[in-house]
Amino acid sequence: MELPKLSDLDVSGKRVIVRMDLDVDDDYTRLEFAEETLDYLVKKMARLIIIGHKGRPEGEKLPELSLASLADVLGGVVGEKVNFFHDTVGYEVEKRAKMLGEGEILLLENLRFEAGEEKNDDAFSKNLASIGEIYINEAFAVSHREHASIVGLPKLLPHASGFRFEKEVENLNKVLENPKRPVVLVIGGIKEDKVEYIKSFIKIADKILVGGRLPILFGEENPDPSKVIMGQLIPDKEDITIHTIERFKEEIAKAGTIVVAGVQGKYEDEGHRQGTLEVFNAIVVSSAFKVAGGGDAEAAITEFGLNDKFDWISVGGGAMLEYLVQGTLPGIDALLNR
Ligand code: 3PG
Repeated sequence: MELPKLSDLDVSGKRVIVRMDLDVDDDYTRLEFAEETLDYLVKKMARLIIIGHKGRPEGEKLPELSLASLADVLGGVVGEKVNFFHDTVGYEVEKRAKMLGEGEILLLENLRFEAGEEKNDDAFSKNLASIGEIYINEAFAVSHREHASIVGLPKLLPHASGFRFEKEVENLNKVLENPKRPVVLVIGGIKEDKVEYIKSFIKIADKILVGGRLPILFGEENPDPSKVIMGQLIPDKEDITIHTIERFKEEIAKAGTIVVAGVQGKYEDEGHRQGTLEVFNAIVVSSAFKVAGGGDAEAAITEFGLNDKFDWISVGGGAMLEYLVQGTLPGIDALLNR
């Protein structure tokens, strides 16, 4: 699979729409991951229009999910002023996009404030496309979604993947192609979609360690007791038990490849971080090839200061899992015109 490269496009002076991963709370690592792509475009004197989403507002304009506060954060990442506009499509947006000077950057509002984004609505894609001349996907974490900004835009504009996106694919391919066994998936978090990923992962992984809220979502069901170890939770359900931590550590010590997707408990609380901290500490001392993914896992790894102890930290949670299960993503197929 050869993704279309940003360096093959003539971006100078062009209005370039960059779809980024902006679904963040207080941890801005996802934004920093896009630095190389943004710096490159600014140096090439492109006119940048950054788009992205936050949370799941489902077509409603929820002020707490506005992207406005990220303009300064992005400005800090790229070392340039980033202007914000409180809409995604329409006459005013078009006007501001067309007024952008070379090397200038405009950040638009949360795409999911418009129902057309998640519906992959053709008219919404066309409206978005009309503000730019080139499309770059630097949003690996949402590329498992068939949304307008992910699969609609590449149909309408010359396109490429961002530099970080390209590296995501290269590194995750190391897990897909002849991984060192046993392959152990350490999964947690609260998103229900992970239940289906766990079932699909049974064909790839030798052991699957399930923590966070996920054991509750499975209830009594264990899809494969020989491979899946369901964690037990402490009474308030915000962390795994000490017994589970020990059981998980035994499997981690034997692993040849470890994939971490999500956190084991509500690690943000001092009283609920033991599971995540101990499990992650056991992973980083193992000699396995180690990748981790997802906003929360990544934020916890950053907070524990373990970033450089992983071989790869993916921006994607669900996207990373889906890529490992399917070997592609809707966003990748769209970039490849498939
Ligand atoms: C993520 O944080 O995993 C992505 O932004 C995708 O978010 P979603 O699960 O709400 O589509």
